[in-house]
Amino acid sequence: MKLLVTGGAGFIGSHFVKGMLNAEDVERVTVMDALTYAGDRANLGEAFLSPKLAFVLGDICDRGLVDTLMAGHDAVVHFAAESHVDRSFQTAARFMTTNVLGTQTLADAAMRHGIERFVHVSTDEVYGPLTEGAATEEYPLRPTVPYASSKAASDLMALSYWHTYGAPVCVTRSSNNYGPRQHPEKIIPLFLTKLLRGGKVTLHDRGQHMRNWLHVADNCAGIELVLRQGGPGEIYNLGGGTDMTSRELTGELLRICGAGWDQVTYIPDRLSNDLRYAMDWGKIAALGYRPTRDFRAGLEETAAWYRANPDQWAPMSNSLPAAMPDTRSARPVLESHHAH
Ligand SMILES: NC(=O)c1ccc[n+]([C@@H]2O[C@H](COP(=O)([O-])OP(=O)(O)OC[C@H]3O[C@@H](n4cnc5c(N)ncnc54)[C@H](O)[C@@H]3O)[C@@H](O)[C@H]2O)c1
Repeated sequence: MKLLVTGGAGFIGSHFVKGMLNAEDVERVTVMDALTYAGDRANLGEAFLSPKLAFVLGDICDRGLVDTLMAGHDAVVHFAAESHVDRSFQTAARFMTTNVLGTQTLADAAMRHGIERFVHVSTDEVYGPLTEGAATEEYPLRPTVPYASSKAASDLMALSYWHTYGAPVCVTRSSNNYGPRQHPEKIIPLFLTKLLRGGKVTLHDRGQHMRNWLHVADNCAGIELVLRQGGPGEIYNLGGGTDMTSRELTGELLRICGAGWDQVTYIPDRLSNDLRYAMDWGKIAALGYRPTRDFRAGLEETAAWYRANPDQWAPMSNSLPAAMPDTRSARPVLESHHAH
């Protein structure tokens, strides 16, 4: 298999690439990544030693480059995206450009080049909040924030290439991922890196938001299963991690870092914050998917990585915007529509 992986220098993409390089039937993995603030070659680390890996610095919205790269590959796994909800409150246009136009650009080239499998990586956030029950793949999409709306649009755009042209597109919708090498803007590494430096963490509202936490390795195993066995035009929910409120999650992180609740301050909720996500993942379970990572053990392993590698995350941590738009006073900023 000759695989093109977009966003392979990001958190989930880099874990996925490292796994696929070990697969015997994988002849080549080409990573295409624009190396935005979220991408880092260091995430691929030892993968660069593999003769199977090629790295191309480029934007998924660049039609010419995408077209050139698509030739010579038989499968695409598409991770590249603007991925942080809080940033989408301020720069929604960039989310639309990368997530929607970028996906359309890739799907279009994949169709023209007769790509045999196109896996689009989406999220449970496209379903929006559920007060009860769990969303199956048939559940309506009711995203509430710009990030999730752009992912819903890109997810449907990818599927439209199946419905319209018969392009063999599959979509995975996973819950919240965690694990080593996640950008320190996301809640688990944000809290870990602050607590490890003796700082305070801030919890939105009373920390009642419920999320499902899936180890990145389990998500990657599910994505590989869909790549190999998913049906064209099919959507697969990838859940099955641990459900927790952000307050419960904070308790776990405080315990691991040996810190107390006096390290926590409460702030007003962000502009929009879905109370609960929940997915039914029976469809992919029927293909043999089972998450295998224990949450507490996975969190300990994640904390151990951040403890051991401050040189890898400190520069990113230090360059986080001083005030992320996480209070009700935040307002969007004007931005140009150029990709990057
Ligand atoms: N992290 C999660 O919990 C989670 C959960 C469900 C779904 N997802 C989805 O999984 C995918 C990967 O998420 P992640 O957490 O690894 O994100 P990430 O932000 O860590 O990585 C995104 C990568 O995409 C690259 N990129 C951004 N814009 C690009 C562009 N225009 N052209 C080429 N490359 C570009 C970045 O440089 C980066 O390497 C995203 O599509 C995200 O929506 C993430």
